[in-house]
Amino acid sequence: MIGTGYVGLVTGTCFADIGNKVYCVDNDKSKISKLNSGKSTIYEPGLDEIILKNYNAKRLIFTSNLSLAVKNSDIIFICVGTPNKKGTQTVDLHYVFKAIKEVVKFSKNKKILITKSTVPVGTANEIEKILKNMKKKNFDVVSNPEFLREGEAIRDFKYPDRIIVGSNNNRTFKIMERLYQPLINKGAMFFKTSRRSAELIKYASNAFLATKITFINELANLCEKANINIEDVSLGMGSDVRIGSRFLRPGPAYGGSCFPKDTKGLISTGDKFNVNLSIVKTVVKSNQNRVHLHVKRIDKIIGKNFKNKKITFLGVTFKPNTDDMRDSTSLKMIPYVSKKEANVFYYDPTGEKKEFKNIRNCKFSKDIKIACKNADLIILHTEWEEFKSLDFQKLTKNKGVKIYDLRNLYTFSDMLRKKIKYYSIGRPNAN
Ligand code: UDX
Repeated sequence: MIGTGYVGLVTGTCFADIGNKVYCVDNDKSKISKLNSGKSTIYEPGLDEIILKNYNAKRLIFTSNLSLAVKNSDIIFICVGTPNKKGTQTVDLHYVFKAIKEVVKFSKNKKILITKSTVPVGTANEIEKILKNMKKKNFDVVSNPEFLREGEAIRDFKYPDRIIVGSNNNRTFKIMERLYQPLINKGAMFFKTSRRSAELIKYASNAFLATKITFINELANLCEKANINIEDVSLGMGSDVRIGSRFLRPGPAYGGSCFPKDTKGLISTGDKFNVNLSIVKTVVKSNQNRVHLHVKRIDKIIGKNFKNKKITFLGVTFKPNTDDMRDSTSLKMIPYVSKKEANVFYYDPTGEKKEFKNIRNCKFSKDIKIACKNADLIILHTEWEEFKSLDFQKLTKNKGVKIYDLRNLYTFSDMLRKKIKYYSIGRPNAN
């Protein structure tokens, strides 16, 4: 595995756990030394135990020595980052190409070279060109995209709905099938396709899921105005098997390391081929605009004067069971209320965030009670289990505390009974 970020570390560890010998390579020596001390470099439930087990069994090796790893491997997964180029929607592939060039330098015998990272259509062809220019013939380039959700990545690895393998070589398909056999035995579909299809399947899947979320988020806006409960609509729609019930939960706006980046990446692929992917463009815009609705709602809840008002965020990551802050709506909401001179506190089970270190009037507390004490408004930002049955009046010691629930964790009737002013998403009385 080249790259021990989220994808490389989880995938490498899980491949070791199903019996393979795996070298995880990273040029960041501090990461490697942390991993070699038995500690995970990312927050992912259950990962530490599997790392330790396979590390002790000597099936999982962490190293910065690329030459050693390449020499001892038959299959090489490229798991480096593919961010958007700064200020653009195009995908920056320079980490991928750099990794490929380094890998092939050390390789003598035949190897399978796989892009696991999300890469745009045509990348496998580009890699082949690089190999040709370097006069390297001993590689078979494969696309095998990952579909791991943060927080559920181990489960997603072990019980995938499908394994997508893009190749133009039958022998390689057979090797890949053997590699994934333990998962296929448990019911995963093994889908052989062209490399270009495999590359597009990844973007299409993420853009479709982002579209589903955005669709339900816009419907939630309608429900708020039309006195309808969005949850009934999600349930009613989602029980049509053609639609499916998942990814129909309204929320603050989708975030994370994939959907925002991949929707834009797909648009730029459309542009490259002169195809206007207008739906995906609208999804991106709608999602970006969504945070304005939330800050407008906060304005409405607090009123004109934010000064000396204590606003507490519960959870700041883009979703629960991760410490990942990338494209989280809290990155916009917290600076907004801080600018209005509110007293901002936040509590997150994964600890303090560097992103808020320089935000004025913004304090982290590792004790939820301190973060919430005397709060005027609590914003339920991320749906961690521990936020699902809180006694807000007791927690805040403020009978008049208001709640803005961005994840619909509570019911309006329950809050009404407790005489708490409660705001949520897409429900009657949501305003
Ligand atoms: C996603 C994909 O699911 C995964 O297959 C991929 O390869 C990487 O990107 P991830 O980013 O970890 O995984 O999170 P996911 O659980 O998909 O959620 C993404 C965002 O959508 C989050 O901000 C989440 O809060 C939001 N979301 C999800 C909703 O708002 N409503 C939903 O119903 C589902």
